[in-house]
Amino acid sequence: MELEKYRSHYHFTPELNWMNDPNGLVYFNGEYHLFYQYHPHGTTWGPMHWGHAISSDMVHWKHCPIALAPDEHGAIFSGSAVVDWKNTSGLFVGKPGLVAIFTHHDTPPGSDRQRQRQSLAYSDDNGRTWTKYSGNPVLEDERFPDYRDPKVFWHERTNQWVMILATGQTVCIYHSLNLIEWTFASEFGEGQGSHDGVWECPDLFELSIDGDAARTKWIMIVSIGSVPELAEGSRTQYFIGEFDGSTFVNKQTPESIRWLDHGRDNYAGVSWSDISAEDGRRMYIGWMSNWKYAQVTPTEQWRSAMTVPRVLSLITRDGVIKLIQQPVIELTKLRTRTETWNSVIVEEGDNPLSHMAMDCCEIVAEFELGTAEEFGFKVRTSENHFTVVGYQVREQELFVDRSSSGDISFHEDFTGRHAVRLEALNQRVIIHIWVDSSSVEVFAGNGEAVITDLIFPDPEDQGLEVYTRGGNVHLISLEVSPLQSIG
Ligand code: FRU
Repeated sequence: MELEKYRSHYHFTPELNWMNDPNGLVYFNGEYHLFYQYHPHGTTWGPMHWGHAISSDMVHWKHCPIALAPDEHGAIFSGSAVVDWKNTSGLFVGKPGLVAIFTHHDTPPGSDRQRQRQSLAYSDDNGRTWTKYSGNPVLEDERFPDYRDPKVFWHERTNQWVMILATGQTVCIYHSLNLIEWTFASEFGEGQGSHDGVWECPDLFELSIDGDAARTKWIMIVSIGSVPELAEGSRTQYFIGEFDGSTFVNKQTPESIRWLDHGRDNYAGVSWSDISAEDGRRMYIGWMSNWKYAQVTPTEQWRSAMTVPRVLSLITRDGVIKLIQQPVIELTKLRTRTETWNSVIVEEGDNPLSHMAMDCCEIVAEFELGTAEEFGFKVRTSENHFTVVGYQVREQELFVDRSSSGDISFHEDFTGRHAVRLEALNQRVIIHIWVDSSSVEVFAGNGEAVITDLIFPDPEDQGLEVYTRGGNVHLISLEVSPLQSIG
């Protein structure tokens, strides 16, 4: 199938026009819902709507009509959705339904100050049509000009709804029994983590440690807005701690900052609500862009993609609890075929992949350190372009370098190299890469080190290379699978 230049083969993109944050991620009656910040009348940010898509496998998405449009209370900013299983809201008759909790954003007449308030909409037809709640907005506090992005979940132990909301440089936590009336419980954030930009799009959920349901921690995710002074732009941090239904306690040193992703293009991500207990995965998707340059990326009819959906989990490594991310296993159905190599010594100048040409693929590699100072892959290569996914042995550093990746001219902060520390385990490094028409996602060391970066190569930049520098490396195993388009 012929796709427009840069159109992702297997990442979710809007058919037309502008998209940012994922919203209202919820699983209900066998369907994954993905709503998203959407401007249906242009390819840059504008009056926000909720676009909508549905999937039965998180891989293939069906575009649906716009779910929520601006109204007398303003534009529809980010938020979440839940299944109201017990009809606590009283909005349903005889069966559970979906409730979306989102931010209404406006500037009141006669004021020059933005106003953000929380509102509800509900659906009793599996998300196909939505009714705004007649009592909107349901939560406001004029002390906070930034007061947005409610993420709601049912807290089993205390038998109530919990909302976490971004309030400028903190998050506030609220309680409710019916999703309509909310009471303040606590505030978190002062002196904690990064305050480089405004706090946005929080999430809060419990994860078991090493798969042991008896040992858990709570993860709070907070996205940090872009400021002109910092080249990094917008990024996402997380905290590991405890939550008793009212208060979150960070169990790390308050000043330590943990970034969810060490690339530039994973923002405003949140997790799916109401995944069944038998499945039990905590699944997450992010907006694969960066406010620094999102509105000038070189696509024409649409702008932005989502990351691949990922599973978040906690593992213990050397006594330290770490959050890891792995692409959902459902994505393996995109493989058209797989070429495999085992036990190959790669010397400087060798390229066992020189016969391959493709514009999207999945690469799974396990290397054993040899004499090389650096090794890895070059993807989307041609005489003019290449993107490097490499490992530097002495520095123990995984990196993506997109400075020669293709079109980098649209913003001065787009070019560059993004790195994260990753120790080799028993002298081995596992690198898992997802390449698409305009992105590279790297999950190394079983998801301990993640780098998500946009790239804009030419369609004919289809070469692939394994490389080493300053010596050899032992490729224990390598699988390369060209992937099919989701259509
Ligand atoms: C994050 C964000 C949210 C807001 C939305 C508006 O990218 O700024 O805080 O709700 O985008 O589109």
